[in-house]
Amino acid sequence: MSGYEAIIYEKNDRTGYITLNRPKALNAYNLRMRDELYEVLGAVNDDTDIEVVVLKGAGEKAFCAGADLTEFLTAPPPVFARQARFERDVWGRFLNVKKPVIAALHGYVLGSGIEMALCCDIRLAADDAHFGLPEPGLGIIPAAGGSQTLPRIVGVAPALEMLMSGRWLNADEALRIKLVNRIVPRAELLSEAENIAEKIKANNPVVVRYTKQAVVRGLDLTLEAGLELESRLGRRLMALAKDSGV
Ligand code: COA
Repeated sequence: MSGYEAIIYEKNDRTGYITLNRPKALNAYNLRMRDELYEVLGAVNDDTDIEVVVLKGAGEKAFCAGADLTEFLTAPPPVFARQARFERDVWGRFLNVKKPVIAALHGYVLGSGIEMALCCDIRLAADDAHFGLPEPGLGIIPAAGGSQTLPRIVGVAPALEMLMSGRWLNADEALRIKLVNRIVPRAELLSEAENIAEKIKANNPVVVRYTKQAVVRGLDLTLEAGLELESRLGRRLMALAKDSGV
């Protein structure tokens, strides 16, 4: 896959690597990046060669410093309309990726950056990572799902503190509120993400996909409906195993 400017997409041994690639602007999330992520996330979902996805940022300073402030709040109406459309679609696509997505987070993880990370399944932080939602200081509320995804992951009180005060967290604080799974030295961030990817790929990809579906979809259901979803997926898996003679 080629022709991207704001991201890089690479595949290696059943892992898809998506790199936010505007390092001079701290990988700020612009319309181009939005369009390209929309396309690549669709492709990743359909690509039977890909079992795990790693999302990372290019350059030394940031995973992503949020929405591109040169487009943001100043765009003319048609661009704005397009922006809104892609916002919805991209976040929907992120949340509907059937395969596990590991976010490798370093440096600034702000605004849409943190919201992208929240759409991933596993978040690894480098020891230099800083997390924040500058939106309240800009007079806006999050537009990429942060008001919904953050409290689901860290709980209501820590989410409200971040969302209402705009206070930034370092990697230790992010780990303490379980915003990230673990902290690793900056130099080991990618290799640790790859270690996790290897462990996941050692398992049957259908089992992994169904597990993700049971957990992620189940979170939005009552316990009763979630248990029903789990047993439905379990039955489907057994039927698949029987059909393939395993
Ligand atoms: N949109 C567009 N460009 C951005 C950007 C953003 N969100 N964040 C950083 N950049 C650009 C800067 O304009 C600068 O460009 P330049 O070299 O052409 O001047 C470059 O990235 C480096 O940023 P700089 O501010 O010099 O780095 P720093 O280390 O001093 O500060 C931050 C880093 C993240 C604290 C600071 O860039 C910042 O506050 N960015 C905005 C964060 C934000 O409010 N995001 C929107 C959330 S909704």
